[in-house]
Amino acid sequence: MHDQLIIFDTTLRDGEQSPGAAMTKDEKMRIARQLERLGVDVIEAGFAAASPGDAEAIRSIAGIIKNSTVCSLARANERDVRAAGEAIKPAASGRIHTFIATSPIHMEKKLRMQPDQVVEAAVKAVKLALEYTDNVEFSAEDAVRSEMDFLCRVFEAVIKAGAKTLNVPDTVGYSIPALWGERIRQLIERVPNSDQVIWSTHCHNDLGMAVANSLAAVMNGARQVECTINGLGERAGNASLEEVVMAVKTRRDVFTCDSRIDTSQIVPASRLVSQITGYPVQPNKAIVGANAFSHESGIHQDGVLKHRETYEIMRAEDVGWSHNKLTLGKLSGRNAFRTRLHELGIVMESEEALNSAFARFKELADKKREIFDEDLHALVAVDGGLDTCDRFKLVSLKVCSETGETPHAHIVLSDGGNELRADEFGGGPVDASFRAIEKMVGSGSTLLLYSVNNITTGTDAQGEVTVRLSRNGRIVNGQGADTDIVIASAKAYLNALNKLFGAEERAHPQV
Ligand code: KIV
Ligand code: ZN
Repeated sequence: MHDQLIIFDTTLRDGEQSPGAAMTKDEKMRIARQLERLGVDVIEAGFAAASPGDAEAIRSIAGIIKNSTVCSLARANERDVRAAGEAIKPAASGRIHTFIATSPIHMEKKLRMQPDQVVEAAVKAVKLALEYTDNVEFSAEDAVRSEMDFLCRVFEAVIKAGAKTLNVPDTVGYSIPALWGERIRQLIERVPNSDQVIWSTHCHNDLGMAVANSLAAVMNGARQVECTINGLGERAGNASLEEVVMAVKTRRDVFTCDSRIDTSQIVPASRLVSQITGYPVQPNKAIVGANAFSHESGIHQDGVLKHRETYEIMRAEDVGWSHNKLTLGKLSGRNAFRTRLHELGIVMESEEALNSAFARFKELADKKREIFDEDLHALVAVDGGLDTCDRFKLVSLKVCSETGETPHAHIVLSDGGNELRADEFGGGPVDASFRAIEKMVGSGSTLLLYSVNNITTGTDAQGEVTVRLSRNGRIVNGQGADTDIVIASAKAYLNALNKLFGAEERAHPQV
Protein backbone atom coordinates (compact mmCIF):
# COMPACT_ATOMS: atom_id res chain seq x y z
CA MET A 1 0.00 0.00 0.00
CA HIS A 2 1.33 3.43 -0.98
CA ASP A 3 0.45 6.58 1.03
CA GLN A 4 -0.84 9.62 -0.80
CA LEU A 5 1.73 12.27 -1.66
CA ILE A 6 -0.02 15.64 -1.63
CA ILE A 7 1.03 17.83 -4.53
CA PHE A 8 0.86 21.50 -3.59
CA ASP A 9 1.39 23.64 -6.66
CA THR A 10 2.67 27.17 -6.13
CA THR A 11 3.15 28.21 -9.79
CA LEU A 12 0.59 30.98 -9.30
CA ARG A 13 2.32 32.31 -6.17
CA ASP A 14 6.03 31.46 -5.88
CA GLY A 15 6.19 30.88 -9.66
CA GLU A 16 4.74 34.32 -10.20
CA GLN A 17 7.63 35.77 -8.18
CA SER A 18 9.97 35.07 -11.15
CA PRO A 19 10.94 38.36 -12.82
CA GLY A 20 8.33 39.30 -15.39
CA ALA A 21 6.11 36.28 -14.71
CA ALA A 22 3.27 38.35 -13.21
CA MET A 23 0.00 37.08 -14.66
CA THR A 24 -3.37 38.62 -15.25
CA LYS A 25 -6.46 37.25 -13.52
CA ASP A 26 -7.59 35.49 -16.71
CA GLU A 27 -4.18 33.93 -17.23
CA LYS A 28 -4.15 32.70 -13.64
CA MET A 29 -7.62 31.23 -14.07
CA ARG A 30 -6.53 29.37 -17.22
CA ILE A 31 -3.55 27.91 -15.40
CA ALA A 32 -5.67 27.04 -12.34
CA ARG A 33 -8.07 25.08 -14.55
CA GLN A 34 -5.17 23.16 -16.06
CA LEU A 35 -3.77 22.46 -12.58
CA GLU A 36 -7.15 21.06 -11.58
CA ARG A 37 -7.17 18.82 -14.69
CA LEU A 38 -3.67 17.75 -13.79
CA GLY A 39 -5.05 16.66 -10.43
CA VAL A 40 -2.96 18.78 -8.08
CA ASP A 41 -4.27 18.57 -4.53
CA VAL A 42 -3.64 22.18 -3.53
CA ILE A 43 -3.38 25.23 -5.78
CA GLU A 44 -1.65 28.14 -4.08
CA ALA A 45 -3.46 30.78 -6.11
CA GLY A 46 -1.59 33.83 -4.82
CA PHE A 47 -0.85 36.12 -1.93
CA ALA A 48 -4.09 37.96 -1.19
CA ALA A 49 -2.52 40.84 0.74
CA ALA A 50 -0.16 41.64 -2.17
CA SER A 51 -2.73 43.71 -4.04
CA PRO A 52 -6.49 43.96 -4.62
CA GLY A 53 -5.88 42.31 -8.01
CA ASP A 54 -4.17 39.33 -6.45
CA ALA A 55 -6.99 38.93 -3.92
CA GLU A 56 -9.55 39.13 -6.73
CA ALA A 57 -7.68 36.49 -8.77
CA ILE A 58 -7.66 34.12 -5.78
CA ARG A 59 -11.37 34.73 -5.18
CA SER A 60 -12.17 34.01 -8.84
CA ILE A 61 -10.07 30.84 -8.84
CA ALA A 62 -11.73 29.75 -5.59
CA GLY A 63 -15.07 30.21 -7.32
CA ILE A 64 -14.34 27.94 -10.28
CA ILE A 65 -12.13 25.15 -8.91
CA LYS A 66 -14.01 22.17 -7.55
CA ASN A 67 -11.51 19.31 -7.29
CA SER A 68 -8.44 20.97 -5.79
CA THR A 69 -8.06 22.93 -2.57
CA VAL A 70 -7.47 26.63 -3.25
CA CYS A 71 -4.97 28.33 -0.99
CA SER A 72 -3.74 31.86 -0.30
CA LEU A 73 -0.43 32.76 1.27
CA ALA A 74 -0.43 35.15 4.26
CA ARG A 75 2.35 36.51 6.42
CA ALA A 76 1.72 35.91 10.12
CA ASN A 77 -0.17 39.13 10.75
CA GLU A 78 -3.83 40.00 11.08
CA ARG A 79 -4.19 41.98 7.85
CA ASP A 80 -2.67 39.25 5.69
CA VAL A 81 -4.58 36.40 7.31
CA ARG A 82 -7.90 38.22 7.01
CA ALA A 83 -7.19 39.09 3.35
CA ALA A 84 -6.39 35.40 2.67
CA GLY A 85 -9.48 34.24 4.57
CA GLU A 86 -11.76 36.55 2.57
CA ALA A 87 -10.16 35.56 -0.76
CA ILE A 88 -10.64 31.82 -0.31
CA LYS A 89 -14.26 32.13 0.91
CA PRO A 90 -15.86 30.97 -2.39
CA ALA A 91 -13.72 27.80 -2.45
CA ALA A 92 -15.29 24.36 -2.19
CA SER A 93 -12.15 23.56 -0.21
CA GLY A 94 -9.96 26.44 0.94
CA ARG A 95 -6.68 26.70 2.81
CA ILE A 96 -4.75 29.53 4.44
CA HIS A 97 -0.98 29.19 4.31
CA THR A 98 0.60 31.45 6.89
CA PHE A 99 4.32 31.82 7.45
CA ILE A 100 6.99 33.58 9.43
CA ALA A 101 10.78 33.37 9.30
CA THR A 102 12.47 31.32 12.03
CA SER A 103 16.18 31.58 11.25
CA PRO A 104 18.40 33.83 13.42
CA ILE A 105 19.42 35.94 10.41
CA HIS A 106 15.82 36.54 9.27
CA MET A 107 14.47 37.16 12.79
CA GLU A 108 17.22 39.59 13.67
CA LYS A 109 17.92 41.40 10.41
CA LYS A 110 14.61 41.25 8.55
CA LEU A 111 11.83 40.91 11.11
CA ARG A 112 13.70 42.58 13.99
CA MET A 113 11.78 40.30 16.33
CA GLN A 114 12.80 38.19 19.30
CA PRO A 115 12.25 34.41 19.02
CA ASP A 116 9.44 34.56 21.61
CA GLN A 117 7.64 37.18 19.53
CA VAL A 118 7.97 34.98 16.44
CA VAL A 119 6.37 32.02 18.22
CA GLU A 120 3.58 34.27 19.48
CA ALA A 121 2.92 35.72 16.01
CA ALA A 122 2.88 32.24 14.44
CA VAL A 123 0.37 30.92 16.98
CA LYS A 124 -1.81 34.01 16.69
CA ALA A 125 -1.86 33.79 12.88
CA VAL A 126 -2.81 30.10 12.92
CA LYS A 127 -5.63 30.73 15.43
CA LEU A 128 -6.96 33.64 13.40
CA ALA A 129 -6.78 31.59 10.17
CA LEU A 130 -8.88 28.90 11.84
CA GLU A 131 -11.75 31.41 12.03
CA TYR A 132 -11.92 31.13 8.22
CA THR A 133 -11.05 27.48 7.55
CA ASP A 134 -9.96 24.41 9.45
CA ASN A 135 -7.38 23.78 6.73
CA VAL A 136 -4.42 25.85 7.92
CA GLU A 137 -0.81 25.40 6.86
CA PHE A 138 2.12 26.94 8.66
CA SER A 139 5.59 27.49 7.13
CA ALA A 140 8.79 28.28 8.99
CA GLU A 141 10.49 30.46 6.41
CA ASP A 142 14.24 29.80 6.06
CA ALA A 143 13.84 26.57 8.05
CA VAL A 144 17.08 25.44 6.43
CA ARG A 145 19.07 27.98 8.46
CA SER A 146 16.91 27.80 11.58
CA GLU A 147 18.15 26.26 14.81
CA MET A 148 16.68 22.81 15.25
CA ASP A 149 15.53 23.35 18.85
CA PHE A 150 13.77 26.57 17.94
CA LEU A 151 12.19 25.01 14.86
CA CYS A 152 10.82 22.18 17.02
CA ARG A 153 9.45 24.74 19.48
CA VAL A 154 7.64 26.74 16.77
CA PHE A 155 6.21 23.63 15.12
CA GLU A 156 5.01 22.23 18.46
CA ALA A 157 3.28 25.52 19.21
CA VAL A 158 1.48 25.75 15.85
CA ILE A 159 0.31 22.13 16.04
CA LYS A 160 -1.22 22.98 19.44
CA ALA A 161 -2.81 26.07 17.86
CA GLY A 162 -4.47 23.90 15.19
CA ALA A 163 -2.27 23.91 12.05
CA LYS A 164 -2.85 20.78 9.95
CA THR A 165 0.11 21.02 7.57
CA LEU A 166 3.63 21.98 8.63
CA ASN A 167 5.85 23.14 5.82
CA VAL A 168 9.63 23.09 6.05
CA PRO A 169 11.09 25.39 3.40
CA ASP A 170 14.61 25.58 2.09
CA THR A 171 13.94 29.19 1.21
CA VAL A 172 17.43 29.92 -0.09
CA GLY A 173 18.17 26.58 -1.80
CA TYR A 174 21.07 25.85 0.54
CA SER A 175 20.59 22.24 1.58
CA ILE A 176 21.75 18.95 0.12
CA PRO A 177 19.65 15.79 0.00
CA ALA A 178 21.25 13.86 2.87
CA LEU A 179 21.01 16.83 5.25
CA TRP A 180 17.51 17.81 4.18
CA GLY A 181 16.16 14.29 4.57
CA GLU A 182 17.76 14.09 8.01
CA ARG A 183 16.23 17.43 9.04
CA ILE A 184 12.75 16.23 8.13
CA ARG A 185 13.31 12.90 9.89
CA GLN A 186 14.45 14.63 13.08
CA LEU A 187 11.56 17.08 13.06
CA ILE A 188 9.02 14.28 12.73
CA GLU A 189 10.78 12.36 15.49
CA ARG A 190 11.18 15.26 17.90
CA VAL A 191 8.06 17.40 17.56
CA PRO A 192 5.27 16.18 19.87
CA ASN A 193 2.09 15.10 18.03
CA SER A 194 3.93 15.13 14.71
CA ASP A 195 1.76 12.22 13.60
CA GLN A 196 -1.33 14.48 13.78
CA VAL A 197 -0.15 16.67 10.89
CA ILE A 198 1.10 16.41 7.32
CA TRP A 199 4.76 17.32 6.94
CA SER A 200 5.55 19.26 3.83
CA THR A 201 8.66 20.49 2.06
CA HIS A 202 9.27 23.52 -0.16
CA CYS A 203 12.70 23.64 -1.77
CA HIS A 204 14.35 26.30 -3.89
CA ASN A 205 16.82 25.45 -6.60
CA ASP A 206 19.77 27.77 -6.00
CA LEU A 207 22.22 24.86 -6.00
CA GLY A 208 20.20 22.82 -8.48
CA MET A 209 18.99 20.44 -5.77
CA ALA A 210 15.35 21.43 -5.21
CA VAL A 211 13.93 18.20 -6.62
CA ALA A 212 16.57 15.97 -4.99
CA ASN A 213 16.01 17.67 -1.63
CA SER A 214 12.22 17.37 -1.95
CA LEU A 215 12.54 13.66 -2.71
CA ALA A 216 14.89 13.18 0.24
CA ALA A 217 12.22 14.81 2.42
CA VAL A 218 9.62 12.42 1.02
CA MET A 219 11.85 9.45 1.78
CA ASN A 220 12.01 10.68 5.35
CA GLY A 221 8.31 11.15 5.96
CA ALA A 222 7.17 14.33 4.19
CA ARG A 223 3.80 13.73 2.57
CA GLN A 224 3.33 17.05 0.82
CA VAL A 225 5.69 18.56 -1.74
CA GLU A 226 5.41 22.21 -2.74
CA CYS A 227 6.47 22.64 -6.34
CA THR A 228 5.82 24.50 -9.58
CA ILE A 229 5.28 23.68 -13.22
CA ASN A 230 8.61 23.84 -15.11
CA GLY A 231 10.31 24.63 -11.78
CA LEU A 232 9.32 28.28 -12.17
CA GLY A 233 9.89 30.44 -9.10
CA GLU A 234 11.85 33.00 -7.15
CA ARG A 235 15.52 33.23 -8.34
CA ALA A 236 16.59 29.77 -9.59
CA GLY A 237 13.06 28.51 -9.07
CA ASN A 238 11.27 25.87 -7.02
CA ALA A 239 11.22 22.09 -7.22
CA SER A 240 9.71 21.13 -10.54
CA LEU A 241 6.32 19.41 -10.20
CA GLU A 242 6.80 17.18 -13.22
CA GLU A 243 10.16 15.88 -12.01
CA VAL A 244 8.92 15.16 -8.47
CA VAL A 245 5.78 13.43 -9.73
CA MET A 246 7.55 11.33 -12.35
CA ALA A 247 10.36 10.36 -9.98
CA VAL A 248 7.87 9.06 -7.43
CA LYS A 249 5.82 7.30 -10.11
CA THR A 250 8.76 5.79 -11.99
CA ARG A 251 10.48 4.64 -8.79
CA ARG A 252 7.48 3.12 -7.03
CA ASP A 253 9.93 0.47 -5.90
CA VAL A 254 11.73 3.09 -3.79
CA PHE A 255 8.97 5.46 -2.68
CA THR A 256 6.20 4.36 -0.36
CA CYS A 257 3.81 7.03 -1.60
CA ASP A 258 2.28 8.14 -4.89
CA SER A 259 0.47 11.22 -6.14
CA ARG A 260 -2.95 11.43 -7.77
CA ILE A 261 -1.58 13.47 -10.70
CA ASP A 262 -2.91 12.65 -14.18
CA THR A 263 0.52 12.62 -15.77
CA SER A 264 -0.87 12.88 -19.31
CA GLN A 265 -1.70 16.52 -18.45
CA ILE A 266 1.91 17.39 -17.61
CA VAL A 267 3.09 18.57 -21.05
CA PRO A 268 -0.06 20.66 -21.71
CA ALA A 269 0.45 22.28 -18.28
CA SER A 270 4.10 22.94 -19.02
CA ARG A 271 3.31 24.53 -22.38
CA LEU A 272 0.55 26.68 -20.97
CA VAL A 273 2.72 28.02 -18.16
CA SER A 274 5.60 28.65 -20.54
CA GLN A 275 3.38 30.43 -23.05
CA ILE A 276 1.66 32.59 -20.45
CA THR A 277 4.75 33.56 -18.47
CA GLY A 278 7.13 33.79 -21.42
CA TYR A 279 9.61 31.50 -19.68
CA PRO A 280 10.80 29.02 -22.31
CA VAL A 281 11.51 25.41 -21.32
CA GLN A 282 15.11 24.43 -21.99
CA PRO A 283 15.28 21.62 -24.58
CA ASN A 284 17.11 19.23 -22.27
CA LYS A 285 14.78 19.82 -19.30
CA ALA A 286 13.68 16.50 -17.78
CA ILE A 287 10.15 15.34 -18.68
CA VAL A 288 8.96 18.49 -20.50
CA GLY A 289 12.01 19.57 -22.56
CA ALA A 290 11.74 19.07 -26.33
CA ASN A 291 14.61 16.56 -26.26
CA ALA A 292 13.53 14.70 -23.13
CA PHE A 293 12.36 11.69 -25.15
CA SER A 294 14.40 11.98 -28.35
CA HIS A 295 17.30 9.65 -29.04
CA GLU A 296 20.13 11.03 -31.16
CA SER A 297 22.78 8.34 -30.95
CA GLY A 298 22.44 5.51 -33.48
CA ILE A 299 23.10 2.93 -30.79
CA HIS A 300 20.27 4.31 -28.67
CA GLN A 301 17.88 4.55 -31.63
CA ASP A 302 18.66 0.98 -32.58
CA GLY A 303 18.10 -0.17 -28.99
CA VAL A 304 14.78 1.66 -28.67
CA LEU A 305 13.53 0.23 -31.97
CA LYS A 306 14.36 -3.29 -30.80
CA HIS A 307 12.97 -2.84 -27.31
CA ARG A 308 11.87 0.53 -26.03
CA GLU A 309 12.90 -0.04 -22.44
CA THR A 310 16.56 -0.42 -23.42
CA TYR A 311 16.88 3.34 -23.19
CA GLU A 312 13.52 4.65 -21.95
CA ILE A 313 12.43 4.63 -18.33
CA MET A 314 9.18 6.49 -19.02
CA ARG A 315 6.84 6.70 -22.00
CA ALA A 316 6.53 10.09 -23.72
CA GLU A 317 2.77 9.64 -24.13
CA ASP A 318 2.36 9.04 -20.38
CA VAL A 319 3.43 12.63 -19.70
CA GLY A 320 1.33 14.07 -22.52
CA TRP A 321 3.67 14.33 -25.50
CA SER A 322 1.53 14.13 -28.62
CA HIS A 323 4.30 14.73 -31.18
CA ASN A 324 2.79 17.38 -33.45
CA LYS A 325 -0.46 15.56 -33.86
CA LEU A 326 -2.27 16.80 -36.93
CA THR A 327 -5.71 17.78 -35.77
CA LEU A 328 -7.52 20.30 -37.89
CA GLY A 329 -7.36 21.98 -41.28
CA LYS A 330 -8.89 24.75 -43.33
CA LEU A 331 -12.15 22.89 -43.84
CA SER A 332 -12.71 22.00 -40.19
CA GLY A 333 -15.88 23.49 -38.78
CA ARG A 334 -16.72 25.17 -35.52
CA ASN A 335 -17.86 21.93 -33.96
CA ALA A 336 -14.65 20.08 -34.78
CA PHE A 337 -12.74 23.05 -33.40
CA ARG A 338 -14.74 23.09 -30.18
CA THR A 339 -14.41 19.29 -29.80
CA ARG A 340 -10.65 19.35 -30.26
CA LEU A 341 -10.26 22.18 -27.72
CA HIS A 342 -12.36 20.15 -25.32
CA GLU A 343 -10.21 17.04 -25.91
CA LEU A 344 -7.12 19.13 -25.19
CA GLY A 345 -8.71 20.29 -21.96
CA ILE A 346 -8.97 23.89 -23.17
CA VAL A 347 -12.05 25.54 -21.72
CA MET A 348 -13.25 28.74 -23.35
CA GLU A 349 -14.80 31.18 -20.91
CA SER A 350 -17.82 31.98 -23.11
CA GLU A 351 -19.41 31.47 -26.54
CA GLU A 352 -18.00 34.87 -27.49
CA ALA A 353 -14.47 33.74 -26.61
CA LEU A 354 -15.00 30.53 -28.59
CA ASN A 355 -16.22 32.48 -31.62
CA SER A 356 -13.27 34.83 -31.49
CA ALA A 357 -10.83 31.91 -31.16
CA PHE A 358 -12.56 30.16 -34.06
CA ALA A 359 -12.18 33.27 -36.22
CA ARG A 360 -8.46 33.35 -35.41
CA PHE A 361 -8.23 29.63 -36.16
CA LYS A 362 -9.73 30.23 -39.62
CA GLU A 363 -7.24 33.03 -40.26
CA LEU A 364 -4.42 30.74 -39.23
CA ALA A 365 -5.74 27.87 -41.36
CA ASP A 366 -5.62 30.20 -44.37
CA LYS A 367 -1.90 30.75 -43.80
CA LYS A 368 -0.92 27.29 -42.61
CA ARG A 369 -2.21 24.09 -44.19
CA GLU A 370 -1.98 21.84 -41.16
CA ILE A 371 -2.98 22.89 -37.67
CA PHE A 372 -1.43 20.91 -34.81
CA ASP A 373 -2.41 20.70 -31.16
CA GLU A 374 0.51 22.99 -30.33
CA ASP A 375 -0.96 25.64 -32.66
CA LEU A 376 -4.28 25.43 -30.86
CA HIS A 377 -2.63 25.89 -27.48
CA ALA A 378 -0.81 28.95 -28.81
CA LEU A 379 -3.96 30.27 -30.42
CA VAL A 380 -5.83 30.40 -27.14
CA ALA A 381 -2.86 31.06 -24.86
CA VAL A 382 -0.73 33.73 -26.47
CA ASP A 383 -2.71 35.48 -29.10
CA GLY A 384 -4.06 37.99 -26.65
CA GLY A 385 -7.27 37.78 -28.66
CA LEU A 386 -9.31 36.83 -25.60
CA ASP A 387 -8.42 39.93 -23.73
CA THR A 388 -10.77 42.50 -25.10
CA CYS A 389 -9.71 45.00 -22.40
CA ASP A 390 -6.19 45.37 -23.84
CA ARG A 391 -5.34 49.03 -24.33
CA PHE A 392 -3.00 48.58 -27.32
CA LYS A 393 -3.97 46.43 -30.28
CA LEU A 394 -2.21 45.85 -33.55
CA VAL A 395 -4.37 47.05 -36.45
CA SER A 396 -1.89 46.57 -39.29
CA LEU A 397 1.80 46.25 -39.97
CA LYS A 398 3.79 46.72 -43.16
CA VAL A 399 7.51 46.12 -43.33
CA CYS A 400 10.02 46.52 -46.16
CA SER A 401 13.23 44.60 -46.00
CA GLU A 402 15.47 44.53 -49.03
CA THR A 403 19.15 43.76 -49.64
CA GLY A 404 21.17 46.97 -49.43
CA GLU A 405 18.22 49.02 -48.05
CA THR A 406 17.44 50.06 -44.47
CA PRO A 407 14.46 48.06 -43.21
CA HIS A 408 11.35 50.13 -42.66
CA ALA A 409 8.08 49.54 -40.77
CA HIS A 410 4.70 51.24 -40.98
CA ILE A 411 2.42 50.35 -38.07
CA VAL A 412 -1.16 51.18 -37.22
CA LEU A 413 -2.21 50.68 -33.61
CA SER A 414 -5.38 51.08 -31.67
CA ASP A 415 -4.81 52.83 -28.35
CA GLY A 416 -8.06 52.36 -26.43
CA GLY A 417 -9.99 52.72 -29.71
CA ASN A 418 -8.00 55.67 -31.13
CA GLU A 419 -6.00 54.87 -34.22
CA LEU A 420 -2.30 55.81 -34.21
CA ARG A 421 0.17 55.48 -37.07
CA ALA A 422 3.94 55.62 -37.24
CA ASP A 423 6.85 54.89 -39.59
CA GLU A 424 10.35 53.98 -38.50
CA PHE A 425 13.59 52.57 -39.85
CA GLY A 426 15.65 50.00 -37.99
CA GLY A 427 18.44 47.46 -38.11
CA GLY A 428 15.95 44.83 -39.24
CA PRO A 429 12.18 44.57 -39.70
CA VAL A 430 11.62 43.65 -36.02
CA ASP A 431 13.79 46.52 -34.80
CA ALA A 432 11.98 48.94 -37.15
CA SER A 433 8.59 47.68 -35.89
CA PHE A 434 9.53 48.04 -32.22
CA ARG A 435 10.84 51.55 -32.88
CA ALA A 436 7.60 52.51 -34.62
CA ILE A 437 5.53 51.17 -31.73
CA GLU A 438 7.72 52.93 -29.20
CA LYS A 439 7.36 56.20 -31.16
CA MET A 440 3.57 55.99 -30.67
CA VAL A 441 3.47 54.63 -27.11
CA GLY A 442 6.54 56.32 -25.59
CA SER A 443 6.84 53.73 -22.82
CA GLY A 444 10.52 54.51 -22.14
CA SER A 445 11.00 50.84 -21.30
CA THR A 446 14.15 48.80 -21.84
CA LEU A 447 14.07 45.61 -23.88
CA LEU A 448 15.64 42.89 -21.72
CA LEU A 449 14.87 39.85 -23.82
CA TYR A 450 13.65 39.00 -27.29
CA SER A 451 13.29 35.36 -28.29
CA VAL A 452 11.61 33.46 -31.12
CA ASN A 453 10.74 29.75 -31.10
CA ASN A 454 8.87 27.73 -33.66
CA ILE A 455 5.78 26.11 -32.19
CA THR A 456 5.84 23.13 -34.54
CA THR A 457 8.24 22.07 -37.29
CA GLY A 458 8.40 23.36 -40.88
CA THR A 459 8.91 26.78 -42.37
CA ASP A 460 5.18 27.50 -42.26
CA ALA A 461 5.17 26.93 -38.48
CA GLN A 462 3.98 29.67 -36.16
CA GLY A 463 6.72 31.61 -34.45
CA GLU A 464 6.17 32.19 -30.75
CA VAL A 465 7.86 35.38 -29.60
CA THR A 466 8.66 36.47 -26.07
CA VAL A 467 9.56 40.06 -25.24
CA ARG A 468 10.70 41.12 -21.77
CA LEU A 469 10.51 44.81 -20.91
CA SER A 470 11.62 46.68 -17.85
CA ARG A 471 10.60 50.12 -16.63
CA ASN A 472 11.33 51.70 -13.23
CA GLY A 473 12.24 48.34 -11.73
CA ARG A 474 9.10 46.58 -13.01
CA ILE A 475 9.63 43.69 -15.41
CA VAL A 476 6.96 42.22 -17.69
CA ASN A 477 6.89 39.49 -20.33
CA GLY A 478 4.79 39.62 -23.47
CA GLN A 479 4.01 36.86 -25.95
CA GLY A 480 2.76 36.74 -29.50
CA ALA A 481 2.34 33.98 -32.07
CA ASP A 482 1.93 34.14 -35.83
CA THR A 483 3.19 32.44 -38.97
CA ASP A 484 4.86 35.78 -39.71
CA ILE A 485 7.49 36.35 -37.04
CA VAL A 486 7.51 40.13 -37.50
CA ILE A 487 3.77 40.21 -36.72
CA ALA A 488 4.33 37.78 -33.82
CA SER A 489 7.04 40.13 -32.54
CA ALA A 490 4.82 43.20 -32.73
CA LYS A 491 2.03 41.31 -30.93
CA ALA A 492 4.47 40.22 -28.22
CA TYR A 493 5.76 43.77 -27.79
CA LEU A 494 2.21 45.12 -27.47
CA ASN A 495 1.28 42.33 -25.07
CA ALA A 496 4.20 43.37 -22.85
CA LEU A 497 3.20 47.04 -23.09
CA ASN A 498 -0.39 46.19 -22.12
CA LYS A 499 0.96 44.49 -19.01
CA LEU A 500 3.35 47.34 -18.26
CA PHE A 501 0.60 49.94 -18.50
CA GLY A 502 -2.10 47.78 -16.95
CA ALA A 503 -0.58 45.81 -14.07
CA GLU A 504 -0.78 47.12 -10.56
CA GLU A 505 2.02 47.25 -8.03
CA ARG A 506 2.18 44.23 -5.77
CA ALA A 507 3.77 43.69 -2.41
CA HIS A 508 6.29 40.86 -2.23
CA PRO A 509 5.43 38.33 0.52
CA GLN A 510 9.00 37.98 1.71
CA VAL A 511 9.74 41.67 2.06
O1 KIV B 1 10.52 29.93 0.02
C1 KIV B 1 9.79 30.13 1.01
O2 KIV B 1 10.19 30.06 2.17
C2 KIV B 1 8.40 30.47 0.74
C3 KIV B 1 7.50 30.50 1.93
C4 KIV B 1 6.57 31.63 1.88
C5 KIV B 1 6.81 29.18 2.06
O3 KIV B 1 8.01 30.65 -0.38
ZN1 ZN C 1 9.45 29.80 -1.85
